[in-house]
Amino acid sequence: MNPNRRSFLTRTGAAAIAGVLPVSMIRLAGASAADDFTFAYISDSHIQHIRGNEFVRNWDRGLIRAVAETNLLEPKPDFVMFGGDLAQLGTRPELDHGMEMLAKLNYKLHAVMGEHDYYLDLGEYWSELFGPQYYSFDHKGVHFIVLNSILTYDDWTFNRWDSAARRMNEMAGLDNPNGSPFMVGDKQRTWLAADLAKVDKSTPIVVFSHSPLQKIYKGWNFWTEDADEIQTLLAPFDKVNVIYGHVHQIQYNQIGNIAFNSVMATAWPWPYPSTYAQSGSHVPVLTVPMNRADPFNERDATGWQLINVHTGRADLEYTLYDNTNRTVAFNSATGRPEDVSFQRPGNRVAPQAHY
Ligand SMILES: [Fe+2]
Ligand SMILES: [Fe+2]
Repeated sequence: MNPNRRSFLTRTGAAAIAGVLPVSMIRLAGASAADDFTFAYISDSHIQHIRGNEFVRNWDRGLIRAVAETNLLEPKPDFVMFGGDLAQLGTRPELDHGMEMLAKLNYKLHAVMGEHDYYLDLGEYWSELFGPQYYSFDHKGVHFIVLNSILTYDDWTFNRWDSAARRMNEMAGLDNPNGSPFMVGDKQRTWLAADLAKVDKSTPIVVFSHSPLQKIYKGWNFWTEDADEIQTLLAPFDKVNVIYGHVHQIQYNQIGNIAFNSVMATAWPWPYPSTYAQSGSHVPVLTVPMNRADPFNERDATGWQLINVHTGRADLEYTLYDNTNRTVAFNSATGRPEDVSFQRPGNRVAPQAHY
């Protein structure tokens, strides 16, 4: 049994949900704003159709494994969020095949739109399967918001390309200069402002988007064009968590009151840009140093997350398929998310081994 497997089995025990923090600490913390609860997060499966009933098996396996492991969790998560890019090229066979796997989840499912799901038919079939592309809901004292953050300029979407398949392909590349920056857009921002107007400023908020609602690296579209406007809408609230997929790597950051956390892909890890500073327009400077996964190991940094919400802060426990599990938790002492193993004082350990 490899250490990862052992670790997973251990975590399915009753005390394991707290990750490396003592359970009593979490329970104590939960006595205030919101009840403690957990949800699971699976993202970026990129189910890829080859022909007939053939699909890329490695991507299939990543999603099948995440669904199976999530179903084994005890205590059970309250719901599962799927973070977008279910399909690779947005086709019906890909979305159907992915949905068939997600349908095996024993929990209520929410979903975020990814650009790989959207740019073939502009989200039409995805919406038939999953419903609205942006909405909010309340759960145990926390206000959850789902946004479609992968829209772009109308001219690019409607006038630039001679076919829907070409449009999809141009948006599918990581570093394709023919792509276009992602955005939430005016319509959803107007809706978001109205939605937030009904929420008390002390209510914890969790926002789900596919692209980061912060400007990290434009060259790879780790970027949302109207991120600043959205951050302004979220600024008056005491506790805000933005959780996003798309980047296929662990990222975390803190901007004012807003904690940002990315989630892993079940399909493959993206490498980190050699430096985020290579983009002249990079803002903000990332304020929290992050520990890096190995980009040369194709299964390193793939996996799924258990997310613990307590006192309105989202702590992410990363179940990594081929690496040591990690927890990125909000540290109220420093006011930012931190990797519990690598950044908490007194917790410094040697860099993780690869198995
Ligand atoms: Fe993706
Ligand atoms: Fe994406």
